[in-house]
Amino acid sequence: MMKKIKIALIPGDGIGPEVVEQGVKVLHAIERMDQGLSFTFETFPWGCEYYLEKGIMMDANGIDLLQKFDAIYLGAVGYPGVPDHISLWDLLLKIRKSFDQYVNLRPVTLLHPSFTPLKKRSEKDIDMLVIRENSEGEYAGAGEWLFKGKPEEVVLQTGVFSRKGTERIIRFAYEEARKSQRTLTSISKANALNYSMVFWDEVFEEVGKEYPDVTTFSYLVDAASLYFVSDPGRFEVVVTSNLFGDILTDIGAAITGGLGLATGANINPEREFPSMFEPVHGSAPDIAGQGIANPLAAIWSVSQMMDFFDEKEWSEKILATISSIILETDNLTPDLGGKATTNEVGDRFIEILSRAT
Ligand code: NAI
Ligand code: MG
Repeated sequence: MMKKIKIALIPGDGIGPEVVEQGVKVLHAIERMDQGLSFTFETFPWGCEYYLEKGIMMDANGIDLLQKFDAIYLGAVGYPGVPDHISLWDLLLKIRKSFDQYVNLRPVTLLHPSFTPLKKRSEKDIDMLVIRENSEGEYAGAGEWLFKGKPEEVVLQTGVFSRKGTERIIRFAYEEARKSQRTLTSISKANALNYSMVFWDEVFEEVGKEYPDVTTFSYLVDAASLYFVSDPGRFEVVVTSNLFGDILTDIGAAITGGLGLATGANINPEREFPSMFEPVHGSAPDIAGQGIANPLAAIWSVSQMMDFFDEKEWSEKILATISSIILETDNLTPDLGGKATTNEVGDRFIEILSRAT
């Protein structure tokens, strides 16, 4: 039976469209090689250029339009001239929240020793999956700004940790650890954050009672940041809050090859709503339009998408192809030390992928 996956494309701004184009090329190639899979695409022109023209980041009925898709594939959003809090809240965060994409899945995987600045570390030392809470916590947007501009001015930024929100992300992480037979590490900060993180730790322990087969560790975020650099091998599956996950995964990107290789999926595990797949990097205005953006992070997102739709073989083949293309310096973009264009990397990628099949 033919499996059909409906994909909404939001290429966005800057290098977003340049890298998404390569990801779509890879999806087309998969479709050609796999008789059982087909993709349909519809492109939405939303983003900052759209905003500058129409005063809105996305159409008013944008969420309704996206609802009928199985997945959203996004490039990057943000551009000079449009305040970042507008582009972020009115498009990306709106999608994440409306579609209850409460899991942010960030692989921190070293594909080749030459891509880590850490001495004497190889693939076996850095291979983790960071599961970041994506719907509440420190990024709930709750707070107050009192006595603005007055000497007694006070600003409150409130972390929101609901039982439902905390339990579901921690449970998701335990399930993932069980399924992949890996250890699970919770990262929090209960010594200083005496409400939210004490609660987080309690829930981690409570839910853990249902998973006696999963080996767990619990670290404070400051110590964990140190270990991400000094001893990343301790981590396999990691679960953490929105803010801590944001910061830790940037350390993760730094130790595995930088933004050109970092990817993240925004998942609604219940599949009630579409999930969203995107490279971690932004629109890179400094190199946009030059055709030299590295498309490998966006292509890694396609691997995550295949994984989400239970096409494990394809997700693994894409990763294997990334591992093999990064050895071909001539076929990489300048950020990875090569001279190739975005388009050339995409073409070469498909060549290797097709040969592996
Ligand atoms: P950025 O990720 O766009 O760029 C940071 C640096 O990394 C730049 O020097 C850029 O050239 C380089 N870089 C990033 N991706 C690359 C790629 N694929 N290939 C080669 N080099 C790459 O971050 P920046 O400059 O802080 O933000 C630019 C805009 O992007 C802002 O408006 C920001 O709000 C937005 N942004 C959007 C994100 C999203 O859509 N999820 C995430 C991060 C930033
Ligand atoms: Mg970030």
